[in-house]
Amino acid sequence: MKVAEVVPEFADAFGFEEFNRMQREAAPAILERDENVVAAAPTASGKTALAELAICRTLERGGTALFIAPLRALTNEKESEWERFEELGYSVYVVTGERDLNPRRAERADILVMTPEKTDSATRKHDSARYSFITDVDCCVIDEVHLLDSDTRGGVLEVTVSRLRRICDPRVVALSATMPNIEDVAAWLDAPPETTFEFGDDYRPVDLHAGVRTYTHGDNAFADKYRRLYTALDLAEEHIRDGGQALVFVSSRQDAVRAAGKSRDEIGKRDIPMGARGDYDFHTEAKELADDELAKAAPDGVGFHHAGLAKDDRDRVEEWFKEGKIQLLFSTSTLAWGVNLPARCVVIRDTKYHDPLEGEVDISPLDILQMLGRAGRPGYDDVATAGSSATAPTPTSTGNCCARARRSSRGWRRIWTPTSTPRSRWGRSATSTT
Ligand SMILES: Nc1ncnc2c1ncn2[C@@H]1O[C@H](COP(=O)(O)OP(=O)(O)OP(=O)(O)O)[C@@H](O)[C@H]1O
Ligand SMILES: [Mg+2]
Repeated sequence: MKVAEVVPEFADAFGFEEFNRMQREAAPAILERDENVVAAAPTASGKTALAELAICRTLERGGTALFIAPLRALTNEKESEWERFEELGYSVYVVTGERDLNPRRAERADILVMTPEKTDSATRKHDSARYSFITDVDCCVIDEVHLLDSDTRGGVLEVTVSRLRRICDPRVVALSATMPNIEDVAAWLDAPPETTFEFGDDYRPVDLHAGVRTYTHGDNAFADKYRRLYTALDLAEEHIRDGGQALVFVSSRQDAVRAAGKSRDEIGKRDIPMGARGDYDFHTEAKELADDELAKAAPDGVGFHHAGLAKDDRDRVEEWFKEGKIQLLFSTSTLAWGVNLPARCVVIRDTKYHDPLEGEVDISPLDILQMLGRAGRPGYDDVATAGSSATAPTPTSTGNCCARARRSSRGWRRIWTPTSTPRSRWGRSATSTT
């Protein structure tokens, strides 16, 4: 099924020529019907193309499309990818909290790209001249709709979409990672069974080898962090030596900075050939970064990414990682969902984060699934390795390890079944701890 045959006027807006199996199955419901759509499919299976098809249908009728994405890294990514729509004469406008809003540009936009929080405030103030553009939306694509499950942000998304439907009743196209209660989301959005899709793991185009690497923890949480960091480097090393790139998720901004610093020393000790010290232009560009630590690390091929960085610095890091100038990137959850990065290897170093009210909290199975899903994106790699570190089953820690695996069993099992367990090359697989 060729893109040029399905949407001839918009063929240049797509980054490929032929739809894949998942897209072929969902496309008719998006292009030939008008009902709301809910589609759940594995990470990297090409859900963006479903959004783009819905956008094409809207544009061809002279309408305005709104794309809601939960991360700034994603809204930025769409802004650069959708220059292709601009080249076709349509205007794309990004509205997020970190940019100044130009109401006239928003009003004129054919495609609006917004975060749920910004859509929330725009829909609340839709009576004002500044935000009246939101009342013109004909089609609303919600990317990563499983955000509904988030304690903090889910409610915002739910109320925002409900308000938007009351204000202008757009067609809603909701895209999601595999989730257990897709029928509930479809019922909420009034999407009939004919336009509700659930695609299984076999629709992921790139094989994902996933596993858990255990380590023996001590009494000192700080020392444990370093143990996990060395484990992460052990896992990443072979891929980096092989010319690939690794993305390591850590739990805080400070951890991302520290881990990058420590890794530079370790990479030197291990004599891993990486970095672009000889590249004069890259060196000069790195010096222009606002963050000094990042400026020091980048020429060694190491970077970090978190929400506290200036937007320009974040953009640069993403760009350099895409170009392979940064081969080892430490990130907080800023890059966890939906972002396309050339990571052949993803490691989740920390499976807990610090919540100011509740203390140490396990990250959700959905976040784990999404982070692992950053590995092996089509177009970048044809094989991927991903995994997380967990405490070793010593007599003192077995309970902890098993309890965690059991508590989040649904998410874990989804990750490791059905194909990845037998091929797992790492110590213990999650299924064996459940
Ligand atoms: N039919 C296709 N042919 C070739 N490449 C494709 C095709 N569809 C998508 N891709 C590429 O696959 C990569 C992943 O696509 P996309 O970001 O849409 O996945 P996704 O399902 O949204 O993943 P996630 O759940 O992580 O957000 C992109 O680089 C995209 O260009
Ligand atoms: Mg996506």
